[in-house]
Amino acid sequence: MHDAFGEELARWQHVETVVRGVLERYGYREIRTPAVEKVEVFKAVGDATDIVEKQMFLLQAPGPEAAGSDVRPEKDLMCLRPEGTAGFVRAVVEHNLGANGALGRYYYALPMFRYERPQKGRLRQFHQFGIELVNDATPDADAESIAVMDDVFRAFGLTQYDVRLNSVGCADCRPAYTKLLVAYFEPHRAQLCEQCQKRLDRAPMRLLDCKNETCKALAAKAPKLIDHLDEKCRAHHAGVEATLRAAEVKYVNDPTIVRGLDYYRRTAFEFQSDLLGAQSALGGGGRYDGLAARFGGDVNFTAVGWGMGVERLLIALEASGYFTGKTFATGPVVQLVPIGAEAYAKLLKLSYSLRRRGIGAQIAYAPDKAMKWHMKQADRTAAKFALIAGETELASGVAQLKELATGTQSQVPFAELEDWLLARTPKV
Ligand code: HAM
Repeated sequence: MHDAFGEELARWQHVETVVRGVLERYGYREIRTPAVEKVEVFKAVGDATDIVEKQMFLLQAPGPEAAGSDVRPEKDLMCLRPEGTAGFVRAVVEHNLGANGALGRYYYALPMFRYERPQKGRLRQFHQFGIELVNDATPDADAESIAVMDDVFRAFGLTQYDVRLNSVGCADCRPAYTKLLVAYFEPHRAQLCEQCQKRLDRAPMRLLDCKNETCKALAAKAPKLIDHLDEKCRAHHAGVEATLRAAEVKYVNDPTIVRGLDYYRRTAFEFQSDLLGAQSALGGGGRYDGLAARFGGDVNFTAVGWGMGVERLLIALEASGYFTGKTFATGPVVQLVPIGAEAYAKLLKLSYSLRRRGIGAQIAYAPDKAMKWHMKQADRTAAKFALIAGETELASGVAQLKELATGTQSQVPFAELEDWLLARTPKV
């Protein structure tokens, strides 16, 4: 887990503003679901998935004695959310957001928690931007969601990534394919890595994205689901491809994109980049029709969406040079520099009225310190201007304003100071 502050946090905030802009232009609106959910909610992700099996932070709720008599003991096991989609669908059902087929475009920017072995780009508390497009079963909706992620990267001028597309079929065509796959791998069982030997029995499709060299070589010759889709899934996939071409999104079909979560139907995709080092996925997602039924919702629920790692996006942007020469942590508009007790009293009072007019102002609470010391504070806070006032300025009623980047000096009457500074305050 990671503490964020200073310039790093300022970059993060900048990135978040840009991403929100892209998502909102497509009509996505923010939703915030709780960080704590019942474990039950994530059964939808799949019992045999790493996320659910090994990576959930379970919460020990206090028993009735510890909590006091007015607290109802928690009967359900709770956890910190490892991903956004299951909680999102729970919220859709709970608030009837998809009622009567109402189309919904939602996005989130939220912390997620997975008990993983941490390394660069892999944290235990990380953050995701995510979008979920509800009640649209068309291939155009899948293509839109992919194009939105593509546009997020375009907004930063990022080009060093691949869009990898696959179809994982549906409940009608996948079982027959899975049988073929098991039949193909079974004679090679002894050569498979320990993980994949287990996967062969529990989640055979996960064999296709194993990173072990032997498994990879075997997987390369395995039957591909894309060749065994039923007619509807094949037409859907062709539709997604056609709209991606129309939207001018470059992609490649990649049969190894099977995703580590069980709820996907048909479209599955990942954005991968070699800018990330040990990790490769900037983001991933797909279609998850039918998921609402697990929460007692509409059986005809359809949806598609994705999640993107914010920390990974920051790593990729750093590596691409996006931040080079840019500073995002901004200082106050003005640092007040008093010389002497009388000027200090006047500037202290002024500091409050400046902030109330919307002007960022700071003053160090040290009336006895010399001008040089106060000027140093201006460097430290990275203020745009230093406002210098001592006996002479108080007598003439005119303050000295120094622009710190250029050294340019201006004389501004006290009566005009607020307007002068307001005109030089960045608009938010
Ligand atoms: P996911 O592939 O598990 O999908 O995660 C999405 C993205 O989150 C990954 O591609 C990666 O960028 C980032 N990520 C995952 N784990 C970590 C970690 N430990 N540290 C840093 N970043 C990480 C989902 O979560 C699905 N809910 C996406 C989705 C939404 N599908 C449909 N709608």
